[in-house]
Amino acid sequence: MYIGQKDKFPVKGSALHSVLHSVPDCQSIIKKAVVERLKERYHIEWFEETGALYQIQFTIMKDHVQILLDTSGAGLHKRGYRKNANAAPIRETLAAGMVDLARVHADSLLVDPFCGSGTIAIEAGLKALNIAPGLFRKFTCEDWALLPKNTFKQLREEAMDVIKKDAPFKAYAYDIDPAALELTKENAKKAHIAGRIHVAQRDVKDFKPDAERQITVCNPPYGERLLEVKEAERIYKTMGEVFHPGDGQTFFAITPHERFESLFGRKADKKRKLYNGMIKCNYYMYFR
Ligand SMILES: C[S@@+](CC[C@H](N)C(=O)[O-])C[C@H]1O[C@@H](n2cnc3c(N)ncnc32)[C@H](O)[C@@H]1O
Repeated sequence: MYIGQKDKFPVKGSALHSVLHSVPDCQSIIKKAVVERLKERYHIEWFEETGALYQIQFTIMKDHVQILLDTSGAGLHKRGYRKNANAAPIRETLAAGMVDLARVHADSLLVDPFCGSGTIAIEAGLKALNIAPGLFRKFTCEDWALLPKNTFKQLREEAMDVIKKDAPFKAYAYDIDPAALELTKENAKKAHIAGRIHVAQRDVKDFKPDAERQITVCNPPYGERLLEVKEAERIYKTMGEVFHPGDGQTFFAITPHERFESLFGRKADKKRKLYNGMIKCNYYMYFR
């Protein structure tokens, strides 16, 4: 039996293209069934639900039912270092994928000229230094009695042992907005890599390379209303003037703007379709 007699066991889920289509009804039927089973097991009538959380999750898809226990809690893209205070932050997992495609290694120098909350620079640092992405977050199942007490402590120690502390990786995170820079500093500190990320205010129009070989990865503004779109287009043109991919400089940008390449002034060496939340974007890659 996974659930102890004092544990919490809320139920949530979804139903799609199925005879059982009422989610609230399915929720209460599952809850009742679990209660009945626990009554049999513990010989009590009332469950106080004050202990560890066992979130029961069901999915009903084309009449196929799955019932699961959520071991993680917050979504796995949440690494535990980020406050969601700035506008338009990119998901940590998307940033990690972008950094991967940009071939960031232990000795890379990475630049993000539109750093916002610092996600790209931080994910690059985690990858370069081989820091396990969930190292500094909590998982719900850490409170579960069925897991040996030391499991997570041991796993964290193992993850700490493989961190490449001597890796020369460095990142430069720039933004025009001082509030974004403060956020990047705070988040980098929480991710334990503040020492690797140099943060400074800079308008992209004043961009200059920090080294002969560097990887620039960015998530520039997209703009939603007409005026903002015009502003984003102006920024893409400026980017074309200041970034010169080639000769050791590689460049990567994600945007949903269909005319990015013509505004930037160069055709990408490769494009990848990626979703930023619900927004269909292209990841423009310049590496030749
Ligand atoms: C889409 S957000 C980046 C979000 C970031 N990737 C994150 O995860 O938080 C775009 C950022 O570009 C910055 N920005 C806008 N215009 C800029 C400019 N001219 N120069 C530098 N940064 C600018 C904004 O302040 C904003 O933080």
